Amino acid sequence: MVRFESVWLRYPRKGGATAGPDVLRDLSFELTPGTFCWLLGEAGAGKSTVLRVMGLSLPPSTGTVTVLGASTSGMTRRTMPRYRRQIGVVSQDFGLLPDLSVFDNVALPLRLEGRPEAQVRADVTEILGWIGLAGKLVAAPAELSDSEQRRAMVARAVVNRPGLLLIDEPAGWLDPEQLNQTIGLVRELCRLGTTAVVATRDRALAESYPAPALRLSHGALAATP
Ligand SMILES: Nc1ncnc2c1ncn2[C@@H]1O[C@H](COP(=O)(O)OP(=O)(O)O)[C@@H](O)[C@H]1O
Ligand SMILES: [Mg+2]
Repeated sequence: MVRFESVWLRYPRKGGATAGPDVLRDLSFELTPGTFCWLLGEAGAGKSTVLRVMGLSLPPSTGTVTVLGASTSGMTRRTMPRYRRQIGVVSQDFGLLPDLSVFDNVALPLRLEGRPEAQVRADVTEILGWIGLAGKLVAAPAELSDSEQRRAMVARAVVNRPGLLLIDEPAGWLDPEQLNQTIGLVRELCRLGTTAVVATRDRALAESYPAPALRLSHGALAATP
């Protein structure tokens, strides 16, 4: 579940004490568990910022955000990581860890949850095979193409069946068939209870996979699901 109540956001200005302009303006909406939702809007509308707020990497300036059954105002420095671990993110903000193999990158969410190593091996091998990276298990991220890195990030984001899954602009780095496969996987996770939000400025993409949509215009909501 995701709930925004009167959320406003300003980024701090570089080096300064004052905040910049309002990037998110008075957002209120709710997504029930198991929802697959598009997040639409032109470049600069605030899509990536909404995903950062949902993913708990950016606190709202004012307003209340509830994810995974807990309000951000009630989360502490100590409890926050536990919530973050239940959120799968595919975005520019979280690249693969360069010193870990592809296998170990994708294994990370499972190992942080303390899953038995035999299960880690089985789950990671399965998802990487499914996403077309069976031959890259021991490769370093730097040895992968951009598209392969993004697919490894998708694998890392879904491997522990997160309660919340956030994907930023998938159309930029997946070809149509990979996109179709990824959206199919995301929808399957949603049927099992994951809430997924996929941000894109590509309206045609959203229209080819009909689903509820949040639409942003200059940081404000122009449409809710
Ligand atoms: N880290 C940041 N610091 C300051 N301003 C930012 C930052 N990230 C984005 N912005 C600004 O916030 C607005 C929304 O950006 P963003 O959320 O990236 O939009 P979108 O993903 O829809 O293209 C833009 O005006 C952008 O310049
Ligand atoms: Mg963006």
